[in-house]
Amino acid sequence: MTEGKTAPAEGSISYPNKSVVVRMEDGIAWVSLNRPEKRNAINPAIVFEMNEVLDNLEMDDSCRVVVITGSGDAFSAGQDLKEYFREPDAGPPALRERLHKANAQWQWRRLMHFSKPTIAMVNGWCFGGAFQFLLACDLAIADEKAVFGLSEINWGIIPAGIVTKSVAMAVLQRQAMYYIMTGETFDGKRAEEIGIVNFAVPKDQLEERVRKLAHVLMKKNPHVLRACKSGYHYVRDLPWDMAAEYLAAKSDQTKHRDPEQGDQKGMTQFLDEKSYRPGLGAYNRDK
Ligand code: COA
Repeated sequence: MTEGKTAPAEGSISYPNKSVVVRMEDGIAWVSLNRPEKRNAINPAIVFEMNEVLDNLEMDDSCRVVVITGSGDAFSAGQDLKEYFREPDAGPPALRERLHKANAQWQWRRLMHFSKPTIAMVNGWCFGGAFQFLLACDLAIADEKAVFGLSEINWGIIPAGIVTKSVAMAVLQRQAMYYIMTGETFDGKRAEEIGIVNFAVPKDQLEERVRKLAHVLMKKNPHVLRACKSGYHYVRDLPWDMAAEYLAAKSDQTKHRDPEQGDQKGMTQFLDEKSYRPGLGAYNRDK
């Protein structure tokens, strides 16, 4: 265990070692970036471990929802200025390119289309590159006192990678431009108001609120949830007619491939058995 690291809790699995800790609990994989002494700044170790963690969790049937958070008092201070920028910039371009590609892979390419629901639990500092994986997660809940900032302007770069695009897709122009251009920080409550997170709650309720949301998601049909995610991300950039065609095809594919034939169960339980109301909750997946 490196000095300053948070010891993995009992029942935790580290993939494969210490910069990321994964704790499995009742279907939920609590994934913590684990460099609290560096405010969970993203260095190459986290990049490569997170790719491996996502690979493993995708194959692991005991994992039904993934929560991404940070150890200590930070969610993540964004990319590591020394280990992600300065040192790779001074090294061979091919190695830097490999690192940046691997980073894009876990922070958004992979995460956005991850086959299981994902929740960002923003427990503290959240800067720069952290917006990439925050906004690539399906849902997000923050400590109301967490501090967010698009700090790139403060140290002389633009919010690159895919930070600017992620923010532009999530919030209105005036707010995006304000925070991109001023680098001003904002708290969890403000993040909720402008749509960066779903809710902001007091710190002592944060984990329980995330757990509750994870349990709501676990009651839904996982195959259909996955298709909902793809549908949302792909149609945002499509013209209306193409979006309608895509959704029709996706809907047919989803019904056809659904191992539990959810739509049939849903209709039977509502129309014939009258045992539930789709407007008010999910059908019983165990029947
Ligand atoms: N890259 C590299 N190192 C970082 C880092 C980052 N993004 N964020 C924090 N660290 C390191 C600090 O250099 C310090 O290292 P040291 O103990 O070896 O000196 C350690 O983490 C603790 O940071 P510190 O600034 O002392 O903690 P703090 O709690 O007082 O402040 C922050 C926390 C997040 C406000 C501050 O660290 C910060 O501004 N970080 C940079 C945020 C940023 O601009 N990120 C965008 C990157 S794209």
